[in-house]
Amino acid sequence: MSTFKAPKGTYDLLPPDSARFLAVREAIAAPLRDAGYGYIETPGFEDVQLFARGVGESTDIVSKEMYVFTTKGGDQLALRPESTASVLRAVLESNLHKGGNLPVKVWYSGSQYRYERPQKGRYRHFSQVGAEAIGAEDPLLDAELIILADQAYRSLGLRQHRILLNSLGDRTCRPVYRAALQDFLRGLDLDEETRRRIEINPLRVLDDKREDVQKQLVGAPLLRDYLCEACRAYHEEVRELLTAEGVAFEDDPKLVRGLDYYTRTTFEFVHDGLGSQSAVGGGGRYDGLSEMIGGPALPSVGWALGVDRTVLALEAESVTLDLPATTSVYAVPLGEQARKVLFQMAGELRRSGIATDFAFGGRGLKGAMKSANRSGARLALIAGERDLAEGQVQLKDLESGEQSALALTEVVAEIRRLLG
Ligand code: HAM
Repeated sequence: MSTFKAPKGTYDLLPPDSARFLAVREAIAAPLRDAGYGYIETPGFEDVQLFARGVGESTDIVSKEMYVFTTKGGDQLALRPESTASVLRAVLESNLHKGGNLPVKVWYSGSQYRYERPQKGRYRHFSQVGAEAIGAEDPLLDAELIILADQAYRSLGLRQHRILLNSLGDRTCRPVYRAALQDFLRGLDLDEETRRRIEINPLRVLDDKREDVQKQLVGAPLLRDYLCEACRAYHEEVRELLTAEGVAFEDDPKLVRGLDYYTRTTFEFVHDGLGSQSAVGGGGRYDGLSEMIGGPALPSVGWALGVDRTVLALEAESVTLDLPATTSVYAVPLGEQARKVLFQMAGELRRSGIATDFAFGGRGLKGAMKSANRSGARLALIAGERDLAEGQVQLKDLESGEQSALALTEVVAEIRRLLG
C-alpha cells in the first residue's frame, strides 16, 4: 500500500468491475445516438458564476457542495457539480443554436463533483451520462427523453425502476403558487434554517425528509392546483404521450428537484433497492436557463442518469450483464526465441481483429496458463523451442482443454476459423 488513499467520498474503478461501468455508459448512450443526439464534451471546471446563476445561489449544490478555487491567474472557477449549465454555455458560445437546426440535441458522459456527506450511493466524485435538447418547446421532446432513459434502463435488464413525474409550472403560474406555499409554510412550527428556506426557496421545504416536517406538510397547497392553462395542457400532453408509448409513470405532485432552473416537466427515475439515495436519474425542462446565463430565450429539456447508482441498481436487482471476454487469444511463450515469435504473432492476430494478450515477463508455463484462464480467452497459443524447430505452435482450447499442434503459417487463418 502507498502512503496515499483515494480522497474521502471517492473510489476507484478497477478491472474487472470497471467493465460494467463502461457497459452502463454505453447502454445509456446507445439509444441517444440512435435518436440523433450528438456527443458533446465540456471542461470539468467552469466560471463559478455559471453555476451560481444557472443552478441557483439558494440550492445546496451551489451554496454548500461546490468545489470552488481561485487560479493562479485570479479566476474563480468551480469543478462542475452538474453539466446542464456547462452544455448550454457551450452551445451558446459556439452558436450551435443559430444554425436553424433546433433543437440542438447533445449527449455527454463524465465526472461531476459535489462536496456531499458521503454514504452508499452518494459520492463526492461521480459519473453521469446526460442528454440535453436545446431550443424547442414541444411535449414530444420531453416524452422522447423520458422514453429513451427508460429504454436504456430496460436494455440493461433493470425492471424495478420507477418514473416520478411532475410539472413545476412556468413564470406565470409558479410565482402565484410560491406565494401561496409561503403563506402556508409560515404558519408551521419549523426550525430556524427551514424558516429561512421558506423565504428563499420554499419549494425545497416540500422535499424535507424529516418525519415531523412531512407531518405538518399534509394539506400544503400543491403546484398542480395552481398550474396555468398552458402548463396544464402541456403536462397533460406529456402524460398522454408516455401512456401511449406504454411507459409507466407515477404522478408525484411533491417532486421538487435540487436545481433552480426547472420549469414545467420534471421527473426522477428512482430505484427502491438503493436505500435513501434512491434517485438513479433525473431531469426536466429548463425554459429560462439560457436567459439566466445571458443567452436568448431557448426552451430546453434534458436529463442526467447517475452511472454509479445505475450500477448499484443492477446489483440490487441481481442483474449480471452479459459482458463478452475482451481477450480471445492468450499467447504463452516458453523461452527466448518463442517470446519473439509469439510477440510478432500476437501483433498479427491483433491487426486481423483478434483480441490477443501475452504472458509478459518470461513466466513459467504454470503461472502463464493461470493468467490465460483468468483472461477469459477462448484459446491459448503455446510455443517452446521444440515447437518452433518443427515450425509449429500448440493451440489449446481453454474451454475443452483440447490441445493440438498447428503450423506457424496457419495460425491466423485457423484461429479465425475457430472463433467464427
Ligand atoms: P441531479 O438530479 O442533480 O440532476 O443528478 C442526476 C443524477 O446524478 C442523480 O439522479 C444521481 O443518480 C446522480 N448523482 C447526483 N449526485 C450524486 C452523488 N453525490 N453521488 C452519486 N450520484 C449522484 C442533474 O445533475 C441535472 N443536470 C440533470 C438534468 C439534465 N436536468 C436537465 N438536464
